[in-house]
Amino acid sequence: MKVLVVGGGGREHAICTALKKSPSVTELYCAPGNGGIAEIATCKNIGATDVDAMVAYAKEEKFDLVFVAPDDPLVLGMVDKMQEAGLRAFGPNKNAAIIEGSKAFSKGLMKKYNIPTAKYELFDDEAKAIEYLDSQKAPIVIKADGLALGKGVIIAQTIEDAKVAVHEMMSDHKFGSAGNTVVIEEFMTGPEMTLLAFADGKTCVPMISSRDHKRANDHDEGLNTGGMGAVTPGADLTDADNKRIYDEIVEPTMKALIAEGRPFKGVIYFGLMLTPEGPKVVEYNCRFGDPEAQAILPRLETDFMEIIDACIDGNLDKVDIKWKDCCSCVVVMASGGYPLSYAKGYEITGIKECGHLVFQAGTKINDEGKLVTSGGRVLCVYGEGKTSDEAIDSAYEGVAKISFKDMHFRHDIGRTLGNK
Ligand code: AMP
Ligand code: GLY
Repeated sequence: MKVLVVGGGGREHAICTALKKSPSVTELYCAPGNGGIAEIATCKNIGATDVDAMVAYAKEEKFDLVFVAPDDPLVLGMVDKMQEAGLRAFGPNKNAAIIEGSKAFSKGLMKKYNIPTAKYELFDDEAKAIEYLDSQKAPIVIKADGLALGKGVIIAQTIEDAKVAVHEMMSDHKFGSAGNTVVIEEFMTGPEMTLLAFADGKTCVPMISSRDHKRANDHDEGLNTGGMGAVTPGADLTDADNKRIYDEIVEPTMKALIAEGRPFKGVIYFGLMLTPEGPKVVEYNCRFGDPEAQAILPRLETDFMEIIDACIDGNLDKVDIKWKDCCSCVVVMASGGYPLSYAKGYEITGIKECGHLVFQAGTKINDEGKLVTSGGRVLCVYGEGKTSDEAIDSAYEGVAKISFKDMHFRHDIGRTLGNK
């Protein structure tokens, strides 16, 4: 099969690596790809959100499968457009990707179908939002409705701060049109974890659990980022805990989407908080997490392509998905300054010699043929072991052998519960 992966980050490098192992994948392409992906796939420089150009390219190359990995093209309806052009595509249709594209939609879905989540109110009028805040207690959470690169969530420690956040979103358009509608929600407490699941429109099969670390600095300090590292498993759950998550969250979500005429096919992401009252949904995403995918996919033993085909064809219940029995950890190495401004173009050394799986994100080959930094999150180093401590130590052994100017990484991935 000739396969195209859409995207160009560490997640897509992990997806390409898993696909490369499949006996049925004979030709692998990635658009736009990056410096690391270029070693295992043919990269084509088309932006992941350039839907028309991507469809035209896919038609021209006659791909047997197009795997749309990032949120924006999914929310824009790239899978629908590929299908309309007669191509086979993996990922949710636009009407199901809305679970990530609109927090107002996903909160409404959870309310309607009694799926546990934080209590909330929705506002498209700033004055009404401010008036509501006067009746609430801090801490309180303010979220922009639309996609905001994971940055549209403000945890306000005082009601005054909450009002400032609302004003910045609704009047100053800090997150563009994503903040025209805001969600104001109850502040929940407890460890967080990510549960990704394969979905075929009817059946939903959870993967191993994971946990990412969104803050930029150690001890969960600093700004929110796309994710600075991840571990599997994400929490120490009993069979009863897993059953509760499945029965109260995973299955009701799939059923709710079917009932709404929006069956979900692809990878669904449940961002969960294990609160004192039980597991609750913090957010849904319509795709693999980044960096969660980099920690999860190397543990997949079943042929990835077989699972993808089953999701598309609606026979996921026939596939026995197996995982390597171990723990894993990935540590993101970022450019100094990330998630704010940072310099690019610094040479990266040590990847080949470090002896670890390294997934590349913001990298490229420069005119002199050297691998250099070209983004905020530069790469992601994988480690595994029998215990979580072994996996973490292993990932950091790899990190110690890689270097580029002004590199920045967290030293406590997997050692904290993450996500303050
Ligand atoms: P989200 O983009 O909705 O996943 O939010 C980003 C992060 O903000 C989450 O991973 C949580 O750490 C935090 N967060 C979001 N909503 C809440 C909430 N209701 N209570 C506490 N923390 C939250
Ligand atoms: N790591 C969080 C996300 O992919 O949304």
